[in-house]
Amino acid sequence: MILENKQKLLFMKNIAILTSGGDAPGMNAGLRAVVLSAAKHNITVYGIKQGYQGLIEGKLEILSPESCRNLIAKGGTVLGSARSQAFMSPDGRKKAYENLKNYQIQDLVVIGGDGTFTGAQVFMNEYPDISIVGMPGTIDNDLYGTDYTIGYDTALNTAMQAIDKIRDTAEAHQRLFFVEVMGRDAGFVALRSGIATAAEAILIPEQETNLNELIEIINRRHLQPGASCIVVVAEGDDAGNAFELAKKVEGRVAYPEIKVVVLGHIQRGGSPSCFDRVLASRLGMEAVEALLSGKKGVMLGQQGLKVVSIPFDKAIKHHQKISPYLCQLMEYLSFS
Ligand code: F6P
Repeated sequence: MILENKQKLLFMKNIAILTSGGDAPGMNAGLRAVVLSAAKHNITVYGIKQGYQGLIEGKLEILSPESCRNLIAKGGTVLGSARSQAFMSPDGRKKAYENLKNYQIQDLVVIGGDGTFTGAQVFMNEYPDISIVGMPGTIDNDLYGTDYTIGYDTALNTAMQAIDKIRDTAEAHQRLFFVEVMGRDAGFVALRSGIATAAEAILIPEQETNLNELIEIINRRHLQPGASCIVVVAEGDDAGNAFELAKKVEGRVAYPEIKVVVLGHIQRGGSPSCFDRVLASRLGMEAVEALLSGKKGVMLGQQGLKVVSIPFDKAIKHHQKISPYLCQLMEYLSFS
């Protein structure tokens, strides 16, 4: 392994890094780890602005270790992010390739989700001399092959704190709230934040929503003197978003009115949690080591306590499964 690293070191002088797709807390911590790890090997790191779009437009600049000072605690991504349409065309990718060549870069770290890795895979198929290693960065936690994505834990804590606050006012007025959380077509954020806030019901896309059952739960809750009721809704739930669901149960629940709160992009912002900082730092260091050992086309992830590498096509094609254990826990602890 050490020999392999040295061999690759002979010609690896520059690497580049970009963040792409929805930003996630901890992306900056990952970027910092890549820059500092590369510096240990005397490798220069180029930061690419605005994801693949910036690569097409040649927006690259050197990131020194000094530029990473105070970065670990910063939310968002200092590189900026984008969902580039141009990178989906061969012409766009050709320009991106030419820019990498101009800067004598063959090795790239990308932090993002599904779309980011799909783009990376297509790019490497067209230009096999390019090596790309991915780091999972999304609040949705929907990537196969890693227990946690960078940003998920912070988003969970943000959602949890917001729902706790809603609970305070809901209790004061004995109200029913539908609270919508993010997650695209996955229910990871909803499930954990719902369990953590003792939501009376949690609706996730992975489980068919039964409206009659939901109404029954809400009405049973209403029988408890002075009780508020919170339904956490994943934005991608099969029965609709929080507003649509509220409309569907209107008039059939005992609570006189339904309040709807959409937490939205607040879940993507803020300083990363300790967990996300450590995860991002670990994967950032491993990403540099992976490139040095000649790996390409893989996403790094954490399974249990171990760092693993998953081929892009697996991470993209397979869906991360929601934990049946947590679903049971949710039902087991739901009030009766
Ligand atoms: O993938 C992260 C995510 O925040 C999803 O949870 C959400 O559906 C989507 O991005 C929102 O994307 P945008 O910021 O482009 O509206």
